[in-house]
Amino acid sequence: MNETIKQLLTRKSIRNFTGESVKEEDLNLIFQAAQRCPTSINGQQISLVYTKDKEKIKQIAQLCRNQKQVETADVFVTFVIDFNRTAHAIESLGKEQVVEQSAEGIIVGAIDAGIMLSSLQTAAEALGYGTTAIGAVRCAPDEFIEILNLPPKTYPLVGSTIGVAKDHAKNAPLKPRVSLDSFVFEDVYDDKKVQDGVEEYEEDLKQFRIDNNMDYLTSHKEAIASFYDNYYMPQVKSSFEKQGFIFKDK
Ligand SMILES: Cc1cc2nc3c(=O)[nH]c(=O)nc-3n(C[C@H](O)[C@H](O)[C@H](O)COP(=O)(O)O)c2cc1C
Repeated sequence: MNETIKQLLTRKSIRNFTGESVKEEDLNLIFQAAQRCPTSINGQQISLVYTKDKEKIKQIAQLCRNQKQVETADVFVTFVIDFNRTAHAIESLGKEQVVEQSAEGIIVGAIDAGIMLSSLQTAAEALGYGTTAIGAVRCAPDEFIEILNLPPKTYPLVGSTIGVAKDHAKNAPLKPRVSLDSFVFEDVYDDKKVQDGVEEYEEDLKQFRIDNNMDYLTSHKEAIASFYDNYYMPQVKSSFEKQGFIFKDK
């Protein structure tokens, strides 16, 4: 099988690291690969802030709802929407930027960050490292803004750990997904298939957890509900607004 496809088909989040270092030349390659990804209008409105400092990573782990696996990573990278960079370009023309004050601006930043996150992680995995995306940076956005020294018109969207995976993490089974036919549709969306897929997945994931002795986990439906039946990150709205992201679309 094609090596790239094989890598994509076997990828998984890694939450157990040996503590060994990511080589400096590898980290440099990983950042170059991440930067090669596409960005909306070639605006390049993402910046990365990374740290290898163990004390800072410990602090970041605490801010990310005390996620222990973050603490064991060798590198932590934060993906920042950077409309400060585009503002420098626009203001140098004597014009005023308003993109951060639009719903579209948030979408542009979030999509670009997501694409870059995937490129960065794929590059790290190709070099033999493990990664996990960390959305929990948004549990404490104000604190991230402060410790990363982020100016107005920027926002910490998501992070990624990078480290050397422990063998048992590397060999862990792949987490199942909803069936392909309830996920990808030709021509039109099919809600019946989506609904059937949800029920099927609940059983598949239950079985996966039984087979792998993960009986400490609740049902997938319950897990999703524990987030999505409430406004689970209310701090995001106010911290966005503090950074100048206020929708004023007309
Ligand atoms: C944007 C984003 C944010 C995430 N945030 C976290 C996180 O804060 N902590 C964590 O342990 N995993 C996090 N994950 C990883 C997901 O939990 C994981 O991808 C999912 O459970 C599927 O497992 P797999 O990646 O091993 O296939 C995040 C994933 C994404 C894409």
